[in-house]
Amino acid sequence: MIFLNINFESLKSECLKCEKCDLCKTRTNVVFGVGNEKAEVMFIGEGPGENEDLQGEPFVGRAGKLLDKLLYAVDLDRNKNVYIANIVKCRPPKNRDPFQDEQIECMDWLRAQTRLIRPKIIVCLGRIAGMKIIKEDLKITKEHGVWFERNGIHMMAMFHPAAILRNPNQMEDALKDFIILREKIKEVCERTYD
Ligand code: URA
Repeated sequence: MIFLNINFESLKSECLKCEKCDLCKTRTNVVFGVGNEKAEVMFIGEGPGENEDLQGEPFVGRAGKLLDKLLYAVDLDRNKNVYIANIVKCRPPKNRDPFQDEQIECMDWLRAQTRLIRPKIIVCLGRIAGMKIIKEDLKITKEHGVWFERNGIHMMAMFHPAAILRNPNQMEDALKDFIILREKIKEVCERTYD
């Protein structure tokens, strides 16, 4: 499905009714996204967990709290200058990885969302988002913090905050990646730090 000439509010209200895959049967809420619709920097995670499903907002659990701290460290804020979304907008049962067909169905929403936001930078949080958005064979341990460019959009993958919580020795690399992000923002964005 291609959503042309649709505004953000209509896209969201269509998405909240989505029944394109079986995840709709087990969800509490569709987790459309949060943040500034005019943000130059967009973060994309994997899919909602339990807290996100209950509250209808991405990254509100423990991993989300860590993400907020990392954002804060480089003057970013979900309520101000970034937009945060996920590859799939409904929670996979028991937080399993989203199936390929679920990812494919859900990408129409993310594509339309991205087209409207028109970010200059996309940060993929974790392996699943990196493989879907940047390249199929992305190796997160080797290629986190590395910039790729497609259609004028700068993209990089970072460790998923839930992975950092499980494996705290990734924190040093995660902080470095956020510094790399801040440098790129200064280079290519005009309004993020206004
Ligand atoms: N993990 C994700 O990938 N996305 C969320 O929204 C929450 C946890």
